[in-house]
Amino acid sequence: NSLLLRKSTQTIQITSIEMTSFKNLLQTFLPLKLYSKDFVKPALVACALSFFSVSGYAQDFRTLRDIKVNDTALDLSTTNCKVIPRNAMHSRYRLQSLILPLQLDSVGTQAFFACKNIEGTLRFPATTRVVSAAAFNGCSKLTELSFDGSTRLGAFAFANCRGLRVVRLSATVPPVCADNAFDGIDLSRVQLIVPAQSRKEYRKAQGWRHFFGKQEEANVCRPEQILVPRPLTLEVYSTDNSTKNSDKKAKTNALLPLQWVKVVGVEAPQELANEKMQAERILGERTVFAKGRRGVGPVVRLQLDASLGNDEAYTLDISNKGVVIKGKTAAGVFCGLMTLEQLCIGNGVAARSVEIPALHIKDQPRTAIRELMVDPVRHFIPFEDLKSYVVEMARYKYNALHLHLVDDQAWRIEIKKYPELIEKASDRIGMDDMPARISGYYTQEQMRELVQFAAKYHVMVIPEVELPGHEVAAIHCFPQLSCAKKPVPIRLTCGVSNDLLCPAEPFVYEFFNNVLKELADIFPAPYVHLGGDEAGQPPLGAWSNCSACTELKKKEGFKENWELQQYLFDRIIHQLKLLGKKPMYWYEQEFKTIQPGCVVYAWRHGLTKTAIDAAVRNNVQIMLCPGEHCYLDYPEQKGDMPEVNWGMPVTSLEQTYKLDPAWGQDDNFVRNTLLGVSGTLWSESINSTERLFYQTFPRAAALAEAGWSMPERRNYTDFLRRMKPLTDDMLRRGIAVNAK
Ligand code: ACM
Ligand code: ZN
Repeated sequence: NSLLLRKSTQTIQITSIEMTSFKNLLQTFLPLKLYSKDFVKPALVACALSFFSVSGYAQDFRTLRDIKVNDTALDLSTTNCKVIPRNAMHSRYRLQSLILPLQLDSVGTQAFFACKNIEGTLRFPATTRVVSAAAFNGCSKLTELSFDGSTRLGAFAFANCRGLRVVRLSATVPPVCADNAFDGIDLSRVQLIVPAQSRKEYRKAQGWRHFFGKQEEANVCRPEQILVPRPLTLEVYSTDNSTKNSDKKAKTNALLPLQWVKVVGVEAPQELANEKMQAERILGERTVFAKGRRGVGPVVRLQLDASLGNDEAYTLDISNKGVVIKGKTAAGVFCGLMTLEQLCIGNGVAARSVEIPALHIKDQPRTAIRELMVDPVRHFIPFEDLKSYVVEMARYKYNALHLHLVDDQAWRIEIKKYPELIEKASDRIGMDDMPARISGYYTQEQMRELVQFAAKYHVMVIPEVELPGHEVAAIHCFPQLSCAKKPVPIRLTCGVSNDLLCPAEPFVYEFFNNVLKELADIFPAPYVHLGGDEAGQPPLGAWSNCSACTELKKKEGFKENWELQQYLFDRIIHQLKLLGKKPMYWYEQEFKTIQPGCVVYAWRHGLTKTAIDAAVRNNVQIMLCPGEHCYLDYPEQKGDMPEVNWGMPVTSLEQTYKLDPAWGQDDNFVRNTLLGVSGTLWSESINSTERLFYQTFPRAAALAEAGWSMPERRNYTDFLRRMKPLTDDMLRRGIAVNAK
């Protein structure tokens, strides 16, 4: 369906959509002989091939989206494209003009999500049956929509298209339209033009009625149908008969629901000033609470309670008397606030929370660290977007953001001692087959700001550097770091490099000492991640060809390369411990022993039990992010993004949910060895922030529940139900999620 068209030495990849245009063009011009000799042969071949049935538009759109990244116009009017597949042009910011195919049948979910620069009018031909969920969510420069037929509009189809001024329909019977299709838009500024005789019908019709005046669906809170991760215990004192799934139903009628209009404010001690601010934000954004209300009335009270068993443990009580959140620490109070915010989201509609049933929640995490790892190396993540990522993570009680700051393809953190790192290694063109320019780095000042920002959400920031592999960017700047001492180019593809740091090179220790000193100063988290993964193919093989390494082996009495790695890590770990930090690293079988006080990550498919055994044997802690469940950069379903990758398996939402953080081990393991869970978002194939969110959620919420909730409180079907209002809320706010 796509064809390599060779013309002299040039290879041009063209898509079947272009092929159709091309064919039309040739049919027009061939009889007129308006072509050169050089052109006619490949043109005829192309023309002939295009007569074969054309399928696989998804692949074509992937080419248009990720390969032809500089194109600003997409004109499909001369193609025979009928189906625009899901995610077709997801977050293609550069796209400015779009003309839909004349025979269009359907537009898939999120097909043009956050294409925020598409301007002007979109005309949907009469053949268009459906515009699927969130298809144009966030296309804020669209000004006019015109529907020639009866087109069904899915959930959030045009949400956040804030530039819309005219919506024109010729259908006399109002087409089916989701009630939230136009959420996030001030519809009083949008003119709905419909056949005069049908106006009355539209006024009553679901979805369309909002154009005639605000009509919100009521926010209904059924606590047992929303919270993710699910709390340890939840008692709802509701008299509402429909709350059949309540854990302890209708025990008492003595406690009445809280009504937000009656609430007079938030009270908290000085130590909880930040949490008080968060509580005020939640009340302001999510409830009908009216700020400045005077007099006596229920309050939201935040307190510290030393008797609770865990730093993040909290209790939450709600009744007509008010809200009381008690935490062992500020972090616990904050966790309680995140629960309160979800309760206010209720059934996930746009309307604010009016009432919450009386309830009592007692909650605490099963594991200490729930983290997400992002990779700004392969594709850079703009600084401000890191902040919004923290905000979304925190909703699910994640407490760590792991930043993979350096790798073969770039160095992304300013190191004052070595300005070359960002000068020479933070800007390149291309990531595998994607030809975009990918540049950027974080200043130390930005990272300090991020640390402070994240602290308000009780998220610590863990920096990661790499050794001895995945360090091509540093070697590119300082060839002396490697065994070969030769300049190497920045890597433009994914995979594993054989260029390793040389453990026999004194500058390696000097360099890392300086880098780690600066990192330790920027990031107050007790941990620094040292990488340690995928050090060449075969692992550590490069050291066998290095005379300095051979010399060092002889001197130290080492027989094998893993001992050199042990030597390198021992020295760097020593430096890090002097800086007061706990080292973390990706577990590989080449680590025959693990140094005391280190944390290892079990990540490789099929190697989790081996990593666990190694951690137990060495009496160290382990983070679980097994590829089978936790690699959120993998596609969530067949044919989903990323469509082109290095062979990633599908990791469904259910597969992520199924993670057992204890991996079948006993309580002793959970208590002494298991530190937490991590979800990884390697970004070889994630080229926009929206796609980062899309890959992350809702699987990260599933993982959060695995890391936080007790196994007996977890059930996948129940999770799906609780997740729905939360993903609706994210889509309403314009955040991409892979919603079902
Ligand atoms: C890894 O996925 N290379 C840790
Ligand atoms: Zn060497």
